[in-house]
Amino acid sequence: MNVFDAITQRRSHRGTFQKRAIEAADLEKLIEAARWTPSPFNVQPWELLLIQEAEGKIALADVTERSVVDQFKDAKFLDDNSRWMRLTEAEWQKYGDGVLLEEHVTLPKPLQDAPDKLLQSLLKNAKSFTLLGHLGAGKIPAKEIATQVREAPLLMLVTMNCKRYPPGEGGTRWMWLSMGMLIQNILLAATALKIGVQFVSPPLERAADREHIRQLFNIPTSHEVITLLRMGYVEESGRDSVRLETSEFVHFEKVRDTER
Ligand SMILES: Cc1cc2nc3c(=O)[nH]c(=O)nc-3n(C[C@H](O)[C@H](O)[C@H](O)COP(=O)(O)O)c2cc1C
Repeated sequence: MNVFDAITQRRSHRGTFQKRAIEAADLEKLIEAARWTPSPFNVQPWELLLIQEAEGKIALADVTERSVVDQFKDAKFLDDNSRWMRLTEAEWQKYGDGVLLEEHVTLPKPLQDAPDKLLQSLLKNAKSFTLLGHLGAGKIPAKEIATQVREAPLLMLVTMNCKRYPPGEGGTRWMWLSMGMLIQNILLAATALKIGVQFVSPPLERAADREHIRQLFNIPTSHEVITLLRMGYVEESGRDSVRLETSEFVHFEKVRDTER
């Protein structure tokens, strides 16, 4: 697969994976793709933790489940979320950003059948969703995401060794940039290998959960846990995604008059 195809065909994979483990040769390629990531002063601050055994997967699934349940009770989180939730395919295409609600959460049946207008107003009023969260509405999506974590053939915890900082005031900032590049290298290599990847952010949202995970896996205190990826061979591909038009984010020669 050429690199441009990998870039445009890569998708976040939220479905189930084939049951089989990632082949050793493919795993080696993913790691090799990560290894060649650029970094400031070539400090290479990353360390990857690969989790293939049930024990680690169960532990991460448990943290995920708890964090999603709590997110459904958190008005600020829900409020911020609602800004980016698109209720219909048409709305998603129109905005060219955000995520499709149905791809992220399976709502309780009465909400699934609710008219878009009602859902819209619920989403715009985070407090009502918080109430639903306290009544247990978060449990369904939490269980679903936790199951996906537990059943993924491979989980990868991406960590940053903060001791490997580059010189300069911007040190940590450049390290974070290169961590993003590392993840993208992995995502693109995975796309070429027909391996689907999904970011699983909820268990790393809160400092206390990150600390818990650090301890669970014996990760040194010098390391920041950056992200959790779940991976496996995809059963089918071709999910949709949307993007802004290029004219909405590319600008040419926009110098302020006064500075000419
Ligand atoms: C830092 C980061 C965190 C993300 N967290 C999640 C997540 O927790 N769950 C999820 O399903 N997708 C997550 N995503 C995927 C985005 O939702 C996705 O990239 C975006 O909606 C565009 O869709 P696409 O990747 O399929 O093109 C995350 C992406 C990034 C870069």
